[in-house]
Amino acid sequence: MKMSIALAVSAAFAAAAAGAHAADAPADKRALERGKYLARIGGCNDCHTAGYMERAGQVPESDWLAGSAVGFQGPWGTTYPANLRLLAQSMSEGQWVARFRTEMRPPMPWFNLKAMSDADVRALYAFVRSLGAKGDPMPAYVPPGQAVTTPYFVFVPQNLPAPLKTSAK
Ligand code: HEC
Repeated sequence: MKMSIALAVSAAFAAAAAGAHAADAPADKRALERGKYLARIGGCNDCHTAGYMERAGQVPESDWLAGSAVGFQGPWGTTYPANLRLLAQSMSEGQWVARFRTEMRPPMPWFNLKAMSDADVRALYAFVRSLGAKGDPMPAYVPPGQAVTTPYFVFVPQNLPAPLKTSAK
């Protein structure tokens, strides 16, 4: 008896989940796979997935791209890899493409996004959206010299060679 109730409940959940998917923008399977591939080999998880680097990529897909609250600090101030899952939910595909074409603060390699084809940017959108909303928005950007209360990495080169100007003199 208990078993059949459990089955009925899980069938209801499955039906609800299928309904939710059907309501989404049509995202064909190939685009989803391409988006997943790009997120992985494009290095997006390295920064935008908490713990991805530390665990050599052993983070379940369900935890991907929800942002990292460990900041990167350098001459630009302190920046946080955004929660791309919330971003994708809040944007139309057109807004997502436009965002990929705009300048961002370091160490975000925005110039690489700019070089991505529209089809690839749209595939990433389909994939990130399919992951669903997860987590919270990341801390706001902190300008240089202002107090930072979160953990952060310091991104400042050390032991640079003396400037050429000096050595030429
Ligand atoms: C070296 C770390 C790093 C890598 C690698 C990286 N990002 Fe980012 N990303 C950041 C940081 C930090 C920010 C916040 C920049 C800012 O505050 O201007 C950001 C911001 C963004 C934003 C803007 C978010 C918003 O709120 O508008 C998008 C979109 C984005 N990244 C997408 C990607 C994608 C897609 C990839 C993989 C192709 C990627 N990033 C790889 C660190 C990274």
